[in-house]
Amino acid sequence: MAGTGVFEEIIEGQVFKYYTDGEWKKSASGKSVAIINPTTRTTQYKVQACTQEEVNKVIDSSKIAQKQWAKTPLWKRAELLHKAAAILKEHKAPIAECLVKEIAKPAKDSVTEVVRSGDLISYCAEEGVRILGEGKFLVSDSFPGNERTKYCLTSKIPLGVVLAIPPFNYPVNLAVSKIGPALIAGNSLVLKPPTQGAVACLHMVQCFHLAGFPKGLISCVTGKGSEIGDFLTMHPGVNCISFTGGDTGIAISKKAGMVPLQMELGGKDACIVLEDADLDLVAANIIKGGFSYSGQRCTAVKVVLVMESVADLLVEKVNAKVAKLKVGPPEEDCDITPVVSESSANFIEGLAKDAKTKGATFCQEYKRDGNLIWPLLIDNVRPDMRIAWEEPFGPIVPVIRINSIEEGIHHCNASNFGLQGCVFTKDINKAILISDAMETGTVQINSAPARGPDHFPFQGLKDSGIGSQGITNSINMMTKIKSTVINLPTPSYTMG
Ligand code: G3P
Repeated sequence: MAGTGVFEEIIEGQVFKYYTDGEWKKSASGKSVAIINPTTRTTQYKVQACTQEEVNKVIDSSKIAQKQWAKTPLWKRAELLHKAAAILKEHKAPIAECLVKEIAKPAKDSVTEVVRSGDLISYCAEEGVRILGEGKFLVSDSFPGNERTKYCLTSKIPLGVVLAIPPFNYPVNLAVSKIGPALIAGNSLVLKPPTQGAVACLHMVQCFHLAGFPKGLISCVTGKGSEIGDFLTMHPGVNCISFTGGDTGIAISKKAGMVPLQMELGGKDACIVLEDADLDLVAANIIKGGFSYSGQRCTAVKVVLVMESVADLLVEKVNAKVAKLKVGPPEEDCDITPVVSESSANFIEGLAKDAKTKGATFCQEYKRDGNLIWPLLIDNVRPDMRIAWEEPFGPIVPVIRINSIEEGIHHCNASNFGLQGCVFTKDINKAILISDAMETGTVQINSAPARGPDHFPFQGLKDSGIGSQGITNSINMMTKIKSTVINLPTPSYTMG
């Protein structure tokens, strides 16, 4: 159970503590932030409302710890990460329970998130050992005008303090996707969890604590965005920011100083369906891609662009599957569970109503109870409707009927987002041409968009992000190149 057993020390009374200097502490503010359970809509947990002074101290300790950590052999860093991964997996049940209560993620998916996170940490350890264990050797005479008088040795060195800000939808997994690469590369890590998902994050951090990481290397500060959000992201002690979330990322990137940024800010992933597509496969992928975790995924299918000639049949097949989705509480492992907050539910409702008013066809009756919104396929959507462009982050999927491939590509590329997209066709040549024409970081051929497996590159174009994620890319992003040049008094050429 959450907050018990090995997790007992992370809570006092009703309020979970924050983590710094290898200890669990109460904030001097004496204040807490309530976490509302999306299902019951009552306070489920409370976390510390940390102050700016506490953030300063956290970053100071983080700086000191990083200097020592950078001197720790790579194999030892990897060993500790493997240990943390094992502890995390061992305690998957209480952490998954937090996810169910804080973000209403279905019970089985919550367990999957924790297990996937353990695997991700282990993979980071292995990949780090491989890619950080080698550098480059360059010689000078390849550049015009030079003799071989200079030998250049390059290696990858850590950036310093990495600030990780994951979103509510994968608080554990998208936290470790930042923590693992940062630590293996020799950085220290300050985690600012999302409010909903914070308690799952605090449990995950305790697993790193139990693994025996040095004091100060990992910290987790909770609190109000208005109080410590900008303060953290603009803090001069932070050397790198890895953020996943919404529009806030655009604001952060404007305010952050001279630090490398890794940003993933959402998407409006298009699903282009050609006449020759396997419509059963498409329907299954619209269900999986559009409705899993009630559509609250950056990579969810957010608009279906289907050729008019097969649209009726596809809509019929999707509707048959929508009818089978189980709607209800996450504890019962329902497919569709309450969305994260009332304001989110209101926003989704606003998009649906706008489409209805402008003449779209609701394939199911619109139904809502609190934060629970029943799955809805909206057919005959047109470009003048908000749902054609905006990201609902909820269980509603718009269908736009198209008359040419170009029309589909045009709609996809007219979006300000460019995360992923997908195309369904049996013609691989057409699929490649369409993939090349789609302005998105990834295109899936004959499958719904998805981030994983977690070592694949993951990136968005335009407002969808900055840089590329995926384990290897994240490790590289959280390092910089250091060169040492050996200058020889006379040219030296190696004999064969
Ligand atoms: O931010 C990425 C997340 O929303 C989607 O991840 O694994 O569901 O494709 P995934």
